[in-house]
Amino acid sequence: MDFQRNPDLDPAEREEPFDYSLRPQRLTEYIGQEKVKARLEIALKAALKRSEVLDHVLLFGPPGLGKTTLAHVLANEMGAPCKVIQAPALEKKGDLAAILTNLDEGEFLFIDEIHRLPPAIEEMLYSAMEDRKLDILIGQGPSAQTLKVDLRAFTLVGATTRAGLITKPLHDRFGMVHRLEYYTRAELGIIANRSARVLGVEMAPEGAEAIARRSRGTPRIVNRLLRRCRDYAEVKGQGVITPEIAEACLHLHEVDDLGLDGLDRAYLEALCGKFKGGPVGVRTLAAALGEVEGDALEDLVEPYLMQIGFQDRTPQGRRATDAAYDYLGLKPSAGPLFS
Ligand SMILES: Nc1ncnc2c1ncn2[C@@H]1O[C@H](COP(=O)(O)OP(=O)(O)OP(=O)(O)O)[C@@H](O)[C@H]1O
Ligand SMILES: [Mg+2]
Repeated sequence: MDFQRNPDLDPAEREEPFDYSLRPQRLTEYIGQEKVKARLEIALKAALKRSEVLDHVLLFGPPGLGKTTLAHVLANEMGAPCKVIQAPALEKKGDLAAILTNLDEGEFLFIDEIHRLPPAIEEMLYSAMEDRKLDILIGQGPSAQTLKVDLRAFTLVGATTRAGLITKPLHDRFGMVHRLEYYTRAELGIIANRSARVLGVEMAPEGAEAIARRSRGTPRIVNRLLRRCRDYAEVKGQGVITPEIAEACLHLHEVDDLGLDGLDRAYLEALCGKFKGGPVGVRTLAAALGEVEGDALEDLVEPYLMQIGFQDRTPQGRRATDAAYDYLGLKPSAGPLFS
């Protein structure tokens, strides 16, 4: 059999369908984020009671914490369909106009990476969100006319990993703004067990704990590590994720006790070594790491390093904390790791 060409055997190809089945469909299946859920539950119940649409919702937080999942859960709870678009895919005003005018009453529109909307398109959203109206410019030059189009009631759910990049006018038009937090170990353990049940793989409680501990507060990482452990258990064990199997598999994938991987460690080594603890800008760090975009560091690496107290942000740039030096086994005064 040609392993390369069988999509079922290609991890990249497998990721999506599995993720889909692992996504909670209802609010009760959505683990953790208790405060956000409590607020949304009230908003959902009130909207349903009044037979109105749900107010527009902005969700922000680091990748993999469940923004997309929650957007679909909200639509499901309202019994409404949900259209999904990636903000960068909207290039012309007409793209958004076509989508908005085609929305059915009560339908959800999920705009992912909403901080990346082109400004002209973002401005169109203002009146659509606030007054359910769309101004469409017809013609060009002196004979151009503005046509006002009424839209059906809809709910916009916007998601972003960068709350800081959302403009104030857009931000203020959301009736609710929710920040998703990193999950606790206990919550990650529950997610690991739920996903194992969905995938039909047997797992010891300590196996779930080992995965949860190394998932850096992120459900997507729980599911990714679980899939790796399942493979490992099938190939090297009896198909059961025992604590030994989980430990050996995570060791093989170089995920350490804190859930930090090779890129996190390279980042810390550059920050503490080459840049002597900073302050240093994220672009400079990215350049030092080679082949890594500053955006990837800001989305995937830095939020968790800040969360665990390994890094501070100052107006001058990133700084390493003493805890980061401890982790690397270095002293803050240590010289460059590389010359
Ligand atoms: N609260 C939760 N309970 C159970 N599983 C969850 C939860 N949140 C997320 N997941 C799982 O984690 C995976 C990643 O979540 P999701 O795609 O919603 O993250 P995201 O915040 O949209 O990430 P990104 O910023 O990269 O788009 C989902 O496939 C889902 O299985
Ligand atoms: Mg998403």
